[in-house]
Amino acid sequence: MRSLREVLNIAQVHNVAVGHFNISDSTQFNAIVEAATSMQLPVLVGVSEGEKNFIGLHNAVALVRAAREQGKEVYLNLDHAHSVEACKEAIDAGFDSVMFDGSKLSFEENVEKTREVVEYAKGDQNASVLVEGELGYIGSSSKMLSAVPEDVEQAMTTAEQAKRFVESTGVDILATSVGNIHGMLKGTTNPSLDINRVSEIARAVPSTFLVLHGGSGVVDSDFTAVIKAGMSIVHINTEIRRAYRKGLEQGLEVDKEQIAPYKYLAQGKSNVEQVVQDRMRLFIKS
Ligand code: G3H
Ligand code: ZN
Repeated sequence: MRSLREVLNIAQVHNVAVGHFNISDSTQFNAIVEAATSMQLPVLVGVSEGEKNFIGLHNAVALVRAAREQGKEVYLNLDHAHSVEACKEAIDAGFDSVMFDGSKLSFEENVEKTREVVEYAKGDQNASVLVEGELGYIGSSSKMLSAVPEDVEQAMTTAEQAKRFVESTGVDILATSVGNIHGMLKGTTNPSLDINRVSEIARAVPSTFLVLHGGSGVVDSDFTAVIKAGMSIVHINTEIRRAYRKGLEQGLEVDKEQIAPYKYLAQGKSNVEQVVQDRMRLFIKS
């Protein structure tokens, strides 16, 4: 199987993006992997700290290994880890990539801790694990929102900061604030993305993979434009969570006596598959 770096190199060269979808359980995992496999596309599965604690660090690794043994091209990312220790643990457990999220720290502290993770990941034994850092604030929750989180607008990433951060840390992947937010606004689409800023950042750090977080609620044309401008990974979580919950509610509603999980979870699973396919179709469109 190709390494994650190889997959991202190809995406970068062809101006397409790899989908990254978060999971909390094995039903969502199966839905994502089946959707990606049916499209013959590689896929990244992510667990944030909360999601990782729920599903289990080693269980997530085991799910990915089992899928790979069946020929599925799936990669595992530790998403938004706030401690260096959590990153080290995931590297040791066999994750393909880890993200140290120091976006709320000062620039200097963010650099220092991110670099510590990079140094650990690049140690001989685990040389293939990719490290992602985050610069600029985009809010913190994958949930339905009533308003754009405070401080987001003032915390947009500049190309100059991105260059300095990449040079000081050695990260493989960079998450930036370019108008994107975590979560989805209720009743409307999310704010539009700053495509020029993405192009400037891509030019400033040409050897780094750029990742768009907060993909839920972004309009289709913005996806196409930012991917063309240089985003090689797109993260989607809120849309997955919402679709899963709606399907679960339907599954429970349709037969109130039903107690077989594989029956009442089925609609949730197929809703998640639908989200993944719809989004992935866009990511390879440009
Ligand atoms: O890391 C996770 C993503 O950035 C998800 O963002 O919930 O807005 O899709 P989202
Ligand atoms: Zn994110």
